[in-house]
Amino acid sequence: MKNTVITLKKQKEEHDKIVMVTAYDYTTAKIMDEAGVNTILVGDSLGNTMLGYEDTLSVTMEDMIHHSAAVARGAKDAFIVTDMPFMSYQTSVYDAVVNAGRLMKEGRANAVKLEGGMEFAPHIEAIVKASIPVVAHIGLTPQSVNAFGGFKVQGKDLEAAKKLVADAKAVEEAGACMVVMECVPAKLAKRITEELSIPTIGIGAGAGCDGQVLVYQDLLGMYDGMRPKFVKVFANVGEMMKEGVRSYIQETKEGTFPAEEHCFKIDDSVIEKLY
Ligand code: KIV
Repeated sequence: MKNTVITLKKQKEEHDKIVMVTAYDYTTAKIMDEAGVNTILVGDSLGNTMLGYEDTLSVTMEDMIHHSAAVARGAKDAFIVTDMPFMSYQTSVYDAVVNAGRLMKEGRANAVKLEGGMEFAPHIEAIVKASIPVVAHIGLTPQSVNAFGGFKVQGKDLEAAKKLVADAKAVEEAGACMVVMECVPAKLAKRITEELSIPTIGIGAGAGCDGQVLVYQDLLGMYDGMRPKFVKVFANVGEMMKEGVRSYIQETKEGTFPAEEHCFKIDDSVIEKLY
């Protein structure tokens, strides 16, 4: 069954946790979809995980459209949320609507995600008016890494906690259908979750959120760079891939691959008549 804004809201009401994971291509999206996740995030984290950038700032609209469309071809039931890249919505409400439209039309997303709280309420409102579902992203917002001075937990003191609560309420009021909270103290994220009627999805925000999101290379152990505290590695796929490729190298060098069953046959008489 296709996950939609309606089914995701119902999951919150029924305390059925929402599972979101990133994917950036057809094959991975198909695997995640068949595994049964509710929603796939085509995150601008593709800048780090797929394109090798040190942050998400260089990711373009064309990158997001290209990857989102591939994911949409692979996923049947998952609700696809595609990130609006840096400077595709910050510049004006008009740009926000135009670029959100492109992610839906060309990237075949089911919703767009943008980073920011109350400052972006007018942008969210305008996109929602164009019948495009919006997922807001508050707390640690990686596109603002330079303004934050690094990747840090947000909302720890009273003033910052109040601002996060206000941000969450502002994006809900503006019409967001979900809100991602990144690197927010667990007790604060739980309070916000209880106060909102839209689902909250946590990443480094504790188990009190309505759902969780992880970057797939993190949860499958495919990324051996810096590992944030909130990441749990559920399988060592990176190591399995290396082992598989090492066996391929060894058998190719030994000449045991390809074996007879991997080869196409020809009648000996054809070979004999060749010369
Ligand atoms: O881009 C991304 O993968 C994200 C998640 C970390 C929430 O925004």
